[in-house]
Amino acid sequence: MSPGFSDVHLVHRSLPELNYDEVSLETTFLGKKLRAPIIITGMTGGHPETYEINKTLAEVAEKLGLGVGVGSQRAALENPSLEYTFSVVKEYAPTALKIANIGFVQAKKYSIDMLLKAIDMVDADALAIHLNPLQECVQIEGDREFKGTLRRIAEISRELPVPVIVKETGTGIGYEVAKMIAEETDVKAIDVSGLGGTSWSAVEMYRAMRKGDFFGESVAREFWDWGIPTAVSIVETRFAAPHLEIIGSGGVRSGIDVAKVLALGANAAGIALPALKEVVKGYDRLEFLLKLLIEELHIAMVLTGSRSVSDLRRAEIVIIGRTREWLIQRGISIKEYLEKFRLRTV
Ligand SMILES: Cc1cc2nc3c(=O)[nH]c(=O)nc-3n(C[C@H](O)[C@H](O)[C@H](O)COP(=O)(O)O)c2cc1C
Repeated sequence: MSPGFSDVHLVHRSLPELNYDEVSLETTFLGKKLRAPIIITGMTGGHPETYEINKTLAEVAEKLGLGVGVGSQRAALENPSLEYTFSVVKEYAPTALKIANIGFVQAKKYSIDMLLKAIDMVDADALAIHLNPLQECVQIEGDREFKGTLRRIAEISRELPVPVIVKETGTGIGYEVAKMIAEETDVKAIDVSGLGGTSWSAVEMYRAMRKGDFFGESVAREFWDWGIPTAVSIVETRFAAPHLEIIGSGGVRSGIDVAKVLALGANAAGIALPALKEVVKGYDRLEFLLKLLIEELHIAMVLTGSRSVSDLRRAEIVIIGRTREWLIQRGISIKEYLEKFRLRTV
């Protein structure tokens, strides 16, 4: 399933009336400065071999002025000898935006003190609580108790000294969930992590396949394409939660995709699997990928006449195809959305 970016067209301006060098990619996310609106979202930590990965992700994020998240910190909270695989991020990215990470299952079980430990471990500017109900359902050993999650997120968002981000993991956030988060919690941001990028159901399908579990494999295969595509998810989330900051992620694969998620209403773009694929090949490969994204974004900004990220978030766009059909059926007037909603953040 596609994230829907091919339905989103940035309207080209043959007369940009600005010079390439005048364009600024700088922005802030949750009050922290980014040199470009790109965040490497949480993936790894907890095994000795992930130390090098998190170190390199941190080094490159620090050099390029981007944000960086770590993967679920559960392993280190339950076994402190693994903390170094996460804390390396604060050592190598002292000034970058850093995001701690915990699953909703642990968020329900852990005390506020445990969560503070996770934050201190990476000197985090924010804590992401990830939602992965699909993965929990299709995993053999998954946790299937979902009741009480919103109430716990609300408590955590009120008690922690850093902002809380609610984050999906590849199946997207829709209007109803974004509204619950906006109205019933003090969460400050949503990472939509929509359908169209990494599929956790696919990961679980391969795991089940390797174990010879045909039943589990069949269930996971059926849910491969389940979810809300990223382009739709950004619009639904912004429509429901106009004052929250949004990370547009799930299938972001180029600087043009970054430009599209911003023009749709996100404050920054998130990227995961492509960064992991490059980081395992070394620092230079990851730096190359991210520099490419930044250059493509820069050019897209010139060609839409956007001098700044705020200009890009007001750029002329056209939404066609399945994304348009979906939004119309959900009662969202695209014209009204583009004129009045996509910029409505703090
Ligand atoms: C190998 C891998 C591990 C991941 N682990 C986590 C995790 O621990 N916590 C989390 O919130 N998201 C996790 N994610 C989800 C990503 O942060 C991201 O939301 C998702 O992969 C969609 O982005 P992408 O299409 O750019 O990969 C993981 C993704 C990958 C590829």
